[in-house]
Amino acid sequence: MEKELFGKDFKWGVSTAAFQIEGSCSSDGKGASIWDTFTARKGKVHGGQNAGVACDFYNLYEKDLDIVKALNIPNFRFSIAWSRILPVGKGAVNQKGLDFYNRLIDACLERGIDPWPTLYHWDLPQALEDLGGWTNRDVVEWFSAYADICARNFGDRIGHWMVMNEPMVFTGAGHFLGVHAPGRTGLKNFFPAVHHAVLSMAAGGRILKASQPHAEIGTTFSCSHIEPYSQRSWDVSAANRADVLFNRLLIEPVLGMGYPDKDVSVMKGIRKYMLPGDEEKMAFDFDFIGIQTYTREVIRYSLLTPYLHAKLVKAEKRKVPLTAMKWEVYPEGIYPVIKKYSQYKQIKKIYITENGAAFPDTVTNGTVDDQERLAFIRTSIQELLRAREEGCPAEGYFVWTLTDNFEWAEGYRPRFGLVHVDFETQERRVKSSGKWYRDFLK
Ligand code: NOJ
Repeated sequence: MEKELFGKDFKWGVSTAAFQIEGSCSSDGKGASIWDTFTARKGKVHGGQNAGVACDFYNLYEKDLDIVKALNIPNFRFSIAWSRILPVGKGAVNQKGLDFYNRLIDACLERGIDPWPTLYHWDLPQALEDLGGWTNRDVVEWFSAYADICARNFGDRIGHWMVMNEPMVFTGAGHFLGVHAPGRTGLKNFFPAVHHAVLSMAAGGRILKASQPHAEIGTTFSCSHIEPYSQRSWDVSAANRADVLFNRLLIEPVLGMGYPDKDVSVMKGIRKYMLPGDEEKMAFDFDFIGIQTYTREVIRYSLLTPYLHAKLVKAEKRKVPLTAMKWEVYPEGIYPVIKKYSQYKQIKKIYITENGAAFPDTVTNGTVDDQERLAFIRTSIQELLRAREEGCPAEGYFVWTLTDNFEWAEGYRPRFGLVHVDFETQERRVKSSGKWYRDFLK
């Protein structure tokens, strides 16, 4: 497989997120985010770990961009920490926060790397959470003002923007299950958070486009290939309901299709939070959709699971190979996912804005020979090519992630990087997967 098969306009990249790499959580006027608060709470993160230092990217970004360049990676995706720009989420702007992202963007450009910022990768300013956060409809205004500041300060050098990262995960894990920040639970938090995230995505898209008409504006979604546990009708319909929740709920309103609440009647509860005119406000014609996919899920009927009557059959139980996240090793899943999203006629272009796998890497004689990750990424790219050759508009692929980093509630244990990090010394070591990607991109 050669890079040339994808054409010269195909976007190859690597993805990161502010909270997972930057550290320096209170430096230079940065305000606290919900993840700073959440990680300080007992029992929320594996081993009680936090992201106070993480990969120290705030200080080491130039070195890390040197690695991106050395790996021949032309596109670098990162996120902007809202509370660096607006320490309490709204009002006074923190110049030092703007300075940092200006330095980062310039450092990318100096190296011939295209910067791809995401406005929101889960780190809401804590001061806004104290006002209700994503459950308060005012968040749409707060987010819009923040988006506008980013567009005006960075837009002159940005060709590709992403509004949000995986809204299903920060609403589902953060506002229904309570296992991610801000730790809210139940439908009374989940539904308003979903609706306000959808309104904010579309509003953010409109603001970026108005300010930067020549830039490509996108937003990203978590997607998994879903299969029913058996072909029995109850498992098949359980899998359909899970598909509504995991894959369709956040994207369809943005595509102008409204909420997919026909098959899962509990979803009608979202309507309570809708105001007249919201259907139109929910939609925005994005230039691209970012798809982020890691594994496949198998779903079976479950009487006892409230609302959905469907449950995941854990990969462990299925006796399949596992990643360090206990997700099934299933790189082939990228193909049906791309096929599925290509069927939405409103989607003009798909970039795989995240894909990768965590494995328990070991350093031996100074090297990390991560053959499993290498094979995962290579197979994913092959399967993407297959979908592309069948006419799907898949125009880019970004590996998650550059360096091992802070994997949210899982702490530092799952390592996803192309580059190994010794968190004691901050030493970086390019893994075999990173070297493979480098040679592939040469
Ligand atoms: C998706 C998220 O966007 C990212 O933050 C996370 O680290 C990866 N998935 C791996 O779980």
